Amino acid sequence: MNKEVNQDAKPAYLAHIAGCGSSAPTKKLTNEDLSKMVDTSDEWITTRTGIKTRYICSDNETTALLATQASKQALDMAGLDPCELDLIIVATVTPEMVFPSTACFVQKNIEAVNAWAFDLSAACSGFIYSLSIAQQFIESGKYKNALIIGAETLSKITNWQDRGSCILFGDGAGAVVLQRNSDGKGILYSTMSSDGSNWEALSCEAYGSKYPACKKLDDPDKIYMSIKGREVYQQAVRRIVESVKHCLKKFDLTTEDLDMMISHQMNARIIESASKRLKLPKEKVFMNIAEYGNTSAASVPIAFNECYRQGKIKKGDKVIFVAFGAGLTWGATLIQF
Ligand code: COA
Repeated sequence: MNKEVNQDAKPAYLAHIAGCGSSAPTKKLTNEDLSKMVDTSDEWITTRTGIKTRYICSDNETTALLATQASKQALDMAGLDPCELDLIIVATVTPEMVFPSTACFVQKNIEAVNAWAFDLSAACSGFIYSLSIAQQFIESGKYKNALIIGAETLSKITNWQDRGSCILFGDGAGAVVLQRNSDGKGILYSTMSSDGSNWEALSCEAYGSKYPACKKLDDPDKIYMSIKGREVYQQAVRRIVESVKHCLKKFDLTTEDLDMMISHQMNARIIESASKRLKLPKEKVFMNIAEYGNTSAASVPIAFNECYRQGKIKKGDKVIFVAFGAGLTWGATLIQF
């Protein structure tokens, strides 16, 4: 079902990105390293996915740690005291623990004593979903400051013997500070969708209430991510194009009006194919998948942070975020930075 946000009413306030940050573990795993672990090659991975390296956590690096590092950088850029935060959302499918939420650990670590905090599970679309939730609170005038984080440690649920999936994923976190703004800049429009009937295309079945940790699994591989790569590939291209077009149309814009597209980094070929259909030139499509691989909910905010810090977007630019992932879920957010 498709959900649209902020299409007709012109709110007095917009939720504007005042700061961004990102973090990655120290260990880098190259395609060469992977070719020593499974039957694959740098050439296969590069041509099929565009990925060259990915960052992988050590045992003592966790989702809350990466999320906290990214958050501190975003707060620093915004020049905001953590005490002024009203809300913290962490989008993740690899949380610190079953409970409490990763967001509560971040709140403790940054001492955001006046914020309430929760996690959101929407896989690779989690950051887009989270932005739109915070957007509602800010546009309504209820809150001034929100911290939105995408953070994942997918390496901890990766089957390192499955060459079809282990080459794709990496760990990391990205964060933005959203702030109430009345000069017309901020989130202009968002759209989100889900299709639960297709859940089997991408999943990690254990451990939850269906397959609890206290019961022996019929298939031990249920603790790992499983993907139907080809199926996901085709759907991803279609949904990215659809979401971007939908967003632009609702705001009476064309791709020519866009300064940058920051897509979820799932496969360079998927992003290239979608950009081609959208008639977006290369210089308006940011990619860092070669270095990070697919970091799920962390992917869009890491890419946004890098794009900004490389000077490829500036204040006032129109930027679109777009993501697609497990659920299935997808969505896009149009912003004026
Ligand atoms: N190295 C070498 N060969 C590999 C391989 C690897 N790492 N992984 C798969 N292969 C083989 C397959 O076994 C298959 O061999 P066969 O033809 O002898 O059966 C062949 O390569 C083609 O496999 P296929 O799965 O059809 O490749 P593909 O071109 O579709 O690329 C993905 C596979 C996973 C890279 C691609 O489908 C993809 O990126 N999908 C979306 C990824 C995704 O789900 N991301 C998460 C959600 S956002």
